[in-house]
Amino acid sequence: MFLKNRLSRKSVRKMNKFDLNSYLSSKRKQIDTALGIIIDNNSKDSTIRDAMKHSLMASGKRLRPILCVAAADAVGNHSNPTIRTACAIEMIHTYSLIHDDLPAMDNDTLRRGQPTCHIKFDEATAILAGDALLTLAFEILSSVNAADTDRGALNRLRVINTIARAAGCNGMIEGQMQDIAAEGKVLGLEDLKKMHRLKTGALIEASVISGTILGNGNRDQIEKLKNYARNIGLAFQITDDILNVEGDPDIMGKDVGTDQSRGKSTYPSILGMEKSKKFARKLVNDALKVLDYFDNKADPLRAIAHYIVVRNK
Ligand code: IPE
Ligand code: IPE
Ligand code: MG
Ligand code: MG
Repeated sequence: MFLKNRLSRKSVRKMNKFDLNSYLSSKRKQIDTALGIIIDNNSKDSTIRDAMKHSLMASGKRLRPILCVAAADAVGNHSNPTIRTACAIEMIHTYSLIHDDLPAMDNDTLRRGQPTCHIKFDEATAILAGDALLTLAFEILSSVNAADTDRGALNRLRVINTIARAAGCNGMIEGQMQDIAAEGKVLGLEDLKKMHRLKTGALIEASVISGTILGNGNRDQIEKLKNYARNIGLAFQITDDILNVEGDPDIMGKDVGTDQSRGKSTYPSILGMEKSKKFARKLVNDALKVLDYFDNKADPLRAIAHYIVVRNK
């Protein structure tokens, strides 16, 4: 994949040719395999397991777990705890999608190319499948590892705290509350940005920070990658808004036009399409500038930043 003409010159110098497609598909395979094993080893054959697997094992992009692994690689070596943490983050993300699609929230019927969980099963099962994925994520994150060193255990506690804060009432949940409360209203740009950073940015940030901690990144590296993640997190949700207007539902595996029909405040509705695209690209360039501090172990993070705004699903 040839990305150079779109990236800042300094990033290009650092990132020779990097094959993002192969990278993403090999990481997705690794994560999908680990997710399948985690679910099967930690739940018994039951309807709730079927519902969890229906949403979790459908074709998600696995962006958050890949960011976690890529951040660990950028500062050190990734390891088994990193993959397990990455999987836990994907479980939390999938739970958020199941609940986001419920009739009480966005009332969507298609997700990841499949009927949404409450359509395939029923509302009660979908609520419980989401709860079960969230809880299982923390079971996986907190499970004791015989090979843990004191430093490893402390890092894992920091990761659990980071993820809990991002997913909870001061992060993603608050963002979802604001999203629902804003339906039918027109938010100002600053409020819209805050809402996007919470509902989507917070978990993306936590994914990158968790990987950086598990890769034994130092404080300076954590700060820098936090800044990277903050920029791509917002760019990611702006692109989600853009794709809801001009994306292809067959490629995306979810319906389009739904933000407008539900009266959601989005970047395209408030800033217009061209300015929204420009702003998303600016955020990606800001993210790339932060990465100038890192060597070529950060190439996956560089390529992912670019992918976030050029993706079609
Ligand atoms: C969709 O996330 C919901 C948002 C936070 C924008 P993704 O676009 O990462 O969805 P999947 O995981 O690929 O299905
Ligand atoms: C989803 O945001 C955010 C979370 C699930 C936390 P959206 O509602 O904008 O995402 P899509 O478009 O349904 O995937
Ligand atoms: Mg929503
Ligand atoms: Mg939605």
